[in-house]
Amino acid sequence: MQQLHALLFCAVAGVILAASGSLRAQRLDPKLPSSAANTSTSWTNSADDQIRYGDGSVARVVLLSDSAGASNDAPAFACGFLCGPACDHRSFLFGVFLVTTNSAGDVVAAAPRPVTVWSANRDRPVPDNATLQLTDAGDLVLHSADGAFVWSTNTSGLAVAGVRLADSGDLVLFDNRSFPVWQSFDHPTDVLVPGQYLRPGMRLTANASAANVSEGSLYVSAGNDGLSGFVGHDPPQLYFTAPVSNSMKLLANITFLNGSISAFGQSSSSSSPEIMISLPVARSVQFIRVESDGHMRLYGWNLSSWVFIHEVLHKYIAGDCEYPMACGSYGICSGAGRCSCPATYFRRASLRCEPINPISCQNTKNITMVKLPDVTYFNYDGSGAIVHDKVTQPDCLSGCLANCSCKAAYFKTRVNDTNGTCFLQSQLFSLQELQTAVPSLYNSEAFIKVVQIIKFAMSRPPMKKTFGTGMLIGITIGSVALILSIALLITMRKCRQREDGDHIEHLPGMPRKFSFEELKLSTWDFSKKIGEGASGIVFEGMIENESVAVKRLESVARRKEEFLSEVQTIGSIHHVNLVRMIGYCIEKSHRLLVYECMSNGSLDRWVFDEQESPFDWRTRHKIVSDVARGLCYLHEGCRQRIVHLDIKPQNILLDDQFNAKLSDFGLAKLVDRDKSRVMTRMRGTPGYLAPEWLTSTITEKADVYSFGVVVMEVMCGRRNLDHSQPEEAFCLMRLLQENARNDKLLDMIDRRMEDMQLHSEDVMRMMRLAMWCLQLDSNRRPSMSTILKVLEDASAVQENLDFNFVITSSSIFREGCLDESDLPSSSVLSGPR
Ligand SMILES: *[C@@H]1O[C@H](CO)[C@@H](O)[C@H](O)[C@H]1NC(C)=O
Ligand SMILES: *[C@@H]1O[C@H](CO)[C@@H](O)[C@H](O)[C@H]1NC(C)=O
Ligand SMILES: *[C@@H]1O[C@H](CO)[C@@H](O)[C@H](O)[C@H]1NC(C)=O
Ligand SMILES: *[C@@H]1O[C@H](CO)[C@@H](O)[C@H](O)[C@H]1NC(C)=O
Ligand SMILES: *[C@@H]1O[C@H](CO)[C@@H](O)[C@H](O)[C@H]1NC(C)=O
Ligand SMILES: *[C@@H]1O[C@H](CO)[C@@H](O)[C@H](O)[C@H]1NC(C)=O
Ligand SMILES: *[C@@H]1O[C@H](CO)[C@@H](O)[C@H](O)[C@H]1NC(C)=O
Ligand SMILES: *[C@@H]1O[C@H](CO)[C@@H](O)[C@H](O)[C@H]1NC(C)=O
Ligand SMILES: *[C@@H]1O[C@H](CO)[C@@H](O)[C@H](O)[C@H]1NC(C)=O
Ligand SMILES: *[C@@H]1O[C@H](CO)[C@@H](O)[C@H](O)[C@H]1NC(C)=O
Ligand SMILES: *[C@@H]1O[C@H](CO)[C@@H](O)[C@H](O)[C@H]1NC(C)=O
Ligand SMILES: *[C@@H]1O[C@H](CO)[C@@H](O)[C@H](O)[C@H]1NC(C)=O
Repeated sequence: MQQLHALLFCAVAGVILAASGSLRAQRLDPKLPSSAANTSTSWTNSADDQIRYGDGSVARVVLLSDSAGASNDAPAFACGFLCGPACDHRSFLFGVFLVTTNSAGDVVAAAPRPVTVWSANRDRPVPDNATLQLTDAGDLVLHSADGAFVWSTNTSGLAVAGVRLADSGDLVLFDNRSFPVWQSFDHPTDVLVPGQYLRPGMRLTANASAANVSEGSLYVSAGNDGLSGFVGHDPPQLYFTAPVSNSMKLLANITFLNGSISAFGQSSSSSSPEIMISLPVARSVQFIRVESDGHMRLYGWNLSSWVFIHEVLHKYIAGDCEYPMACGSYGICSGAGRCSCPATYFRRASLRCEPINPISCQNTKNITMVKLPDVTYFNYDGSGAIVHDKVTQPDCLSGCLANCSCKAAYFKTRVNDTNGTCFLQSQLFSLQELQTAVPSLYNSEAFIKVVQIIKFAMSRPPMKKTFGTGMLIGITIGSVALILSIALLITMRKCRQREDGDHIEHLPGMPRKFSFEELKLSTWDFSKKIGEGASGIVFEGMIENESVAVKRLESVARRKEEFLSEVQTIGSIHHVNLVRMIGYCIEKSHRLLVYECMSNGSLDRWVFDEQESPFDWRTRHKIVSDVARGLCYLHEGCRQRIVHLDIKPQNILLDDQFNAKLSDFGLAKLVDRDKSRVMTRMRGTPGYLAPEWLTSTITEKADVYSFGVVVMEVMCGRRNLDHSQPEEAFCLMRLLQENARNDKLLDMIDRRMEDMQLHSEDVMRMMRLAMWCLQLDSNRRPSMSTILKVLEDASAVQENLDFNFVITSSSIFREGCLDESDLPSSSVLSGPR
């Protein structure tokens, strides 16, 4: 990847003979593509001379600007075919792009992928073997591999003599006097480079999305008033205007200069241009791009990469929330840049809001308008909306209901007026949460058209459902159904005394009873599955403005009283590091539990997934401490000692502040304080099981062992049992044993933890603490309260630790690593989710 790829002379390797013309020599230096070509030249999009980039992009250069090679590692314009990232060889764009060249003028492959500044065929990509031809008649034509016409400049007969890629990045067809006949600058796509202009009527159209290079619906256009941004179609909605002064109206063009976007007036060419937008002055190559999120960003070349320099629209659009795509269609953006959806009627789908019941024009039954409280919309002037003046609010709403294409209505009145202005919108982009403190002469209300769910839902105000950038991941607390009926519950007796015991009085802090219908509605008919545990499926839900996780227990054949007593026990356990149970439902055969929702999902995703940005030392330390506190509370803080028995990263959930909380008490045994040991059947998850499972005397020290495994995993950034590792590294415990004996513990630490060097002492201490927890002899392991003291620096890790972490005597714990295949009966184990 690091070596340089020299470009072959394209006239030799990449040029085939045009049907009629003959091949002409193009440049004296045979190593480099020329910056120009004459008519009767043609090129094939073939692999003979391509540059492959690290991300799988492929570039095939046809013309290279003369500025290439001016300095080392500097970008220069190239014209040719570009595909990728991860090029599939079916979707090449022909266009102009910025490539990096070395001082010899060779295109450098070990560089960021090329940036497209202009393309001819963004809506019709071409495959390998497509041809580009500058015909005898002077037409530049692109054909697909099968000969189908794709694109042309339509310049045949206009005395074109050749094509040239100018140093500015402009692709020019010129005539025999070198006058331009056709220029790519006159047909911009989504990028402006210095010197490029927008004449009235010309526009920059963003890609459909970051991943889809097709033309999207968002564009910035030049007009007599200045620059304006629009989004959507039927009709487009205005989202900003960068106006020019009156004297500049009827302007000739708006040009991107080094340091500004300036308007040139038409009448007096002598008068100086008006600076519309001041930009940072660049020392190097730069470009401005209109992107699918509505932003117009200035990028610049900095040594070896492109860096974002400035938001061009900064002066006209104050905050991220004001961009029309800030939170996607129907998304509500709050000041902090958080996105939510109008709840009850919408659910979050990745980063969009998706209607629970899609509206169709055929089924007009049950369609209604609901008000979104305290929101405003960017389209303040109502462009792209049908506007009715001096109407009442009910008339406004029925106007929208009567018109199938209307999706939303926005009603604005002067304070104390009943009649106002009504805007009917056929497309709805992001809404903004209103800062209510601002007094205004106007009252504004936004309404959206929805399919009524049921009456019950209608009577509630529409709620909001928050989502972060991460996915809400499931909560699998309380797989109560799995708890085997060993009667250890003190609370049992109390419950039995209550004859009809099908409810727990709703005292503050106690779980609340829900009806099945209520939970069905709150989870949109159990449509949004967020997780699956051993005992049931977890669904996302929404109860009184709060995201919840609803666990539907499966195949429950439990007696009512038992279920209720367990709910009561679990519901009465409150600790900041334990996931809170909000309520339950027991109706006929239905058994459901409702938990608070943890927006950052479970720990395994963050620690093991290479895609996520790695945690720093402080975060890792905090998560370990949170887990220790939660466990300590279970072991030592409750009225009854509770052994969790399934500590693993999947059962450690993170809230939006990355506070860790323990979930899934499903396998927990409630251990009477007086009975320090209890026999039980083997359960838990392979990889986290303490060795004493073999001898069947299980105490809370089994949790300490699992905790030790989790600490090791958090510090090393990998799973204990990792089948993707080579055989000898498959088991982390075995690695630990080797490294501990050879004093090489630091070698195991997650290299992605960048600030590790700064905290190497703390890191070592944490590793030693983990080893203490992993002692094979459960009596030698510390208690959770001791662990907490170590984490708080109030106590030291025991010296003389035993560095045996692997049991060799047992076939079950093969080399200390209990794997699925080794289990006596996997039916009593909960598999990893
Ligand atoms: C194009 O043709 C002109 C005259 O016919 C010739 O001088 C020039 O070298 C040619 N350029 C290339 C790149 O072949
Ligand atoms: C492109 O053309 C070459 C030569 O004709 C041929 O070998 C190759 O298979 C073609 N590639 C594709 C993808 O059609
Ligand atoms: C050239 O003409 C074709 C057919 O008339 C048209 O579809 C195409 O848009 C034109 N191309 C340009 C660049 O104007
Ligand atoms: C340029 O081409 C035109 C016709 O296309 C011809 O009349 C003229 O003589 C040419 N000029 C030169 C300098 O070749
Ligand atoms: C890309 O966007 C265009 C225009 O919105 C759309 O028609 C096309 O289906 C999209 N392509 C993909 C692969 O999503
Ligand atoms: C838009 O598409 C071009 C290809 O035409 C691509 O190079 C560029 O990265 C895309 N822009 C954005 C903002 O994704
Ligand atoms: C922009 O307008 C000015 C003033 O009319 C003119 O001098 C200049 O050539 C124009 N630039 C372009 C690229 O059209
Ligand atoms: C932009 O202008 C500044 C100062 O006028 C100059 O130093 C710099 O080289 C220019 N940048 C480019 C890319 O021309
Ligand atoms: C350019 O890169 C240097 C070195 O990496 C860095 O210090 C500087 O902040 C960067 N400039 C910009 C504008 O990002
Ligand atoms: C308000 O609008 C209704 C029609 O929507 C009209 O009948 C009524 O006269 C208007 N009232 C005022 C005060 O303008
Ligand atoms: C609206 O009416 C209230 C009560 O009638 C009055 O106090 C208030 O000043 C009025 N506001 C305006 C802006 O007219
Ligand atoms: C309309 O709502 C009622 C309940 O209010 C429901 O029974 C009926 O199926 C709904 N109709 C449609 C077409 O959704």
